[in-house]
Amino acid sequence: MDNPLKQEAEKLQTELTEHSRRYHVLDDPVIADHEYDRLLARLLEIEQQFPELSHPDSPTKRVGAPPLASFESAPHSIPMLSLDNAFGDDDVINFHQRNVKNLDFDKIFYTAEPKLDGVAVELTYEKGILIRATTRGDGINGEVITENVRTIGSIPLRLNKTQDPMPSLLEVRGEVIIMQKDFEGLNKVRIGKGDPVFANPRNAAAGSLRQLDSRVTAKRPLTIFVYGVGMVKGISFESQAQMLLMLKNFGFPVNEHIQTNISIQNVLTFYKKLAQIRPTLDYEIDGMVIKVDRLDMQQALGEKIKSPRWAIAYKFAAVQETTTILDIIVQVGRTGTLTPVALLEPTNVGGVIVSRATLHNADEIKRKDIRIGDRALIMRAGDVIPKVVKIIESLRNGTEQVFEMPDRCPVCDSQVRRLEDEAAIKCINVACQAQLSERIKHFVSKKGFDMDGLGKKIVDQLVNEGLITSFADLFTLDTDMLAKLDRQAEKSVSNLVLAIENSKQISFSRFIFALGIDHTGENAARLLARQFERLEHLMAADKTMLENIHGMGEKTAASLTRFFENQENKTIIRQILEAGVQIKNELFALETPDHPLSGKTLVLTGTLETLKRSEAKKRLEALGAKVTSSISAKTDFLAAGRDAGSKLQKALNLGVTVLDETQLIQMIQD
Ligand code: IVH
Repeated sequence: MDNPLKQEAEKLQTELTEHSRRYHVLDDPVIADHEYDRLLARLLEIEQQFPELSHPDSPTKRVGAPPLASFESAPHSIPMLSLDNAFGDDDVINFHQRNVKNLDFDKIFYTAEPKLDGVAVELTYEKGILIRATTRGDGINGEVITENVRTIGSIPLRLNKTQDPMPSLLEVRGEVIIMQKDFEGLNKVRIGKGDPVFANPRNAAAGSLRQLDSRVTAKRPLTIFVYGVGMVKGISFESQAQMLLMLKNFGFPVNEHIQTNISIQNVLTFYKKLAQIRPTLDYEIDGMVIKVDRLDMQQALGEKIKSPRWAIAYKFAAVQETTTILDIIVQVGRTGTLTPVALLEPTNVGGVIVSRATLHNADEIKRKDIRIGDRALIMRAGDVIPKVVKIIESLRNGTEQVFEMPDRCPVCDSQVRRLEDEAAIKCINVACQAQLSERIKHFVSKKGFDMDGLGKKIVDQLVNEGLITSFADLFTLDTDMLAKLDRQAEKSVSNLVLAIENSKQISFSRFIFALGIDHTGENAARLLARQFERLEHLMAADKTMLENIHGMGEKTAASLTRFFENQENKTIIRQILEAGVQIKNELFALETPDHPLSGKTLVLTGTLETLKRSEAKKRLEALGAKVTSSISAKTDFLAAGRDAGSKLQKALNLGVTVLDETQLIQMIQD
């Protein structure tokens, strides 16, 4: 008799395979992560009980298998070659002319692909199922890394059936990579654990693929782009372009920046374009691969011992150089963050003279042990600010100086603070000139003092000409002063003066928001206004008191205390009030403290029939509720309208009380 769970297992296998493809390949998931996890857990349970229901292409194979003692070696059916390099446009033209001569034909078109900087692998599919994966190795023999490769979500364990016919054998080649943002996340976790960091995404990918325990690999954010084939049986194609399309239809990720069937002139144009978009990509590429598009031509051109005649790599100019760190200075950014910057002996890096490099923060300097006078390897990736990759310790002569971050702001001399849990050191003096423009823009914005007409350009002008040096100065601006600004028409000047005058009557929550305190947005400002009623009370509150407010985060509490402790900030607030600003605590007046929704956190989701979402939000907030956008264990209610999706599921999983629209309206009206 058939196993009663066979059908369920097969259904789960099909569904999970499709969800995994949607997530990893199409970037368009239709279920939440935890729903996927739940289905997978059920399938694992069934397969553990009935191992005969577990096939090599089951999604459960992605979680990793017991460790291996060593990797086996296996020969490639067709050697995995490397590529000759072109160092300039001339080399590319020569490559083309050689092809024209060898084929005795001048209409040769090419495919141009990003040269991905990762690890080359070969994936073998028999009758559509992934049965083996190998590294390139020496090109003739590779290491068998099947278990590790099965954990890579974007690699199909089974070829997409919609593609017809199914090949009896298909060897797919591609590059396993780690996305930049995932690489940074991975290293952050490693720093946290005290593990050594990976130097770059390629090393991280290589290290992750070389794990004997595939459960370790499963935790690494590996992905793939495929670009070629080895041995193929049962299907055929005529060009590189057709092959890529077929691979895509089989379910493989194919890079989106590939140009197919283009002339050699367009190949050169595309090279420049690719170099331009390179810094915007979330993965590292180190050049372009140019391939003769038609496969019959590839065959006719043939191979040399180590590389094909039909393809060439056109690398980007070197972006790493060594130079000397002459000094380290500190810059103050818009939000007050102090950033150490290395002043370098000017040097040509890939055609651009570089004379400074960001050092990010004090921790980074310590980690890389960067000292003034060091010889350093620096890197430039397109438009990105150059950075110090590492210093060259062997070239030290003992005169190098260790750098310490200053304890006062280099711009305003106010005491700086290091934020708990953050690498950043900040100047928290709101009057600091380095931050002034941006802070003023926030202060006068719609959600703050709402000084209509005081746009970004005018603020920059006012600050640059020294007409305002603090928030308080805004209230002393008069028609004469404003008229002095270039291109400031009379009418707009008088409107501006009026807007400034009107803004002096402000609600307490807007006032708090306008101050631009770290981690204190609209919601936090409203909570504070409700809690404290008056500014004096808020300014006198200690950290514990702030932390105890329902809905208030620890970080917000810490930055508020820091902000109100600062002497300069206290002075500015006094000056604002002396300039005639009157704070009205509307929220406190409106609030009905006994209302059941007061102090509660709500999330709205789905379509509400009778009430606009923004309207519901406004009414709830007037009752003292906090409306947030994501569900957590701290959420009190989820109000779910029509077609509520993953938030509803999450709320149910977390045991959050769910209200329908009628219940919500009833509660608002109560
Ligand atoms: S084609 C014979 N296409 O570059 C064709 N290779 O130097 C050789 N690579 O080992 C491979 N991106 O690891 C090809 N779009 C791409 C590539 C690419 C990166 C790597 C691959 C190969 C090395 C050759």
